Amino acid sequence: MKLDKVMAQRTDKTVYRDGDKVIKVFSAEKLKSDVLNEALNQARVEESGLKIPKICDVTRLDDGRWAIVMDYIEGKTLAELMEEDKANYDKYLEKFVDLQLGVHSKKVPLLNKLKDKMMRKISETDFSATVRYELNVRLESMPKHTKLCHGDFNPSNVIIAKNGEAYIIDWAHATQGNASADVARTYLLFCLAGKTEVAEKYLKLFCEKSDTAKQYVLKWLPIVAASQSVKGKPEEKEFLSKWVDVVEYE
Ligand SMILES: Nc1ncnc2c1ncn2[C@@H]1O[C@H](COP(=O)(O)OP(=O)(O)OP(=O)(O)O)[C@@H](O)[C@H]1O
Ligand SMILES: [Mg+2]
Repeated sequence: MKLDKVMAQRTDKTVYRDGDKVIKVFSAEKLKSDVLNEALNQARVEESGLKIPKICDVTRLDDGRWAIVMDYIEGKTLAELMEEDKANYDKYLEKFVDLQLGVHSKKVPLLNKLKDKMMRKISETDFSATVRYELNVRLESMPKHTKLCHGDFNPSNVIIAKNGEAYIIDWAHATQGNASADVARTYLLFCLAGKTEVAEKYLKLFCEKSDTAKQYVLKWLPIVAASQSVKGKPEEKEFLSKWVDVVEYE
């Protein structure tokens, strides 16, 4: 295994390319259970028939770090294409929405439940007991579905291969549940990246294509924002608190 070609570097992981394989190496602090969960999610989603890179190996390097080995997909991410080819931005956004609808059309019954994950995240936040109670009441009231949800669906997690085929990567946060929560998460990710206009356009497009009421998606926002706040990014804290606080006043 050669670890010399870095494709992406994050605080908790480095992604390398080695020939026709990608090696995602996690930092020493990363819990083994999180790494194995990511690999298991990806293997399960693979079985749904969705186009995603196949897992080849889960291994431990000599220095003790865990790594996931998967197929390398040659191409560009939708994020790169959107940046490079602005004239076709709307076309890429439409493709992005169609791909997410494709994800939601799948069932992966062995995945963790979105609702359980949200409940756990709400309990881990530092919002007051009153706010946490309201968030849980809202979560309980949302319709229970079992659709495949990516959990971090954003344009950097879609690779368009040379032949035009799209592959969805990064299944660490995948669950089964209500697709509107997944849409609210994507909306929030655009907002957190400062792309408010894109967020609105995305939401409108998704709601039109799926015949979903915008209000229904937006009802998930305080819950999704609370779960995002657990990641503890200080620059996001104030922004997320504003989204969460609406539950207290409604
Ligand atoms: N199988 C793959 N084939 C080609 N490129 C890949 C592959 N996996 C990852 N990459 C590249 O590495 C980047 C980061 O990988 P990935 O999305 O899995 O991790 P991440 O974004 O750091 O995870 P998170 O979204 O949890 O922060 C991708 O945006 C993509 O450019
Ligand atoms: Mg990613």
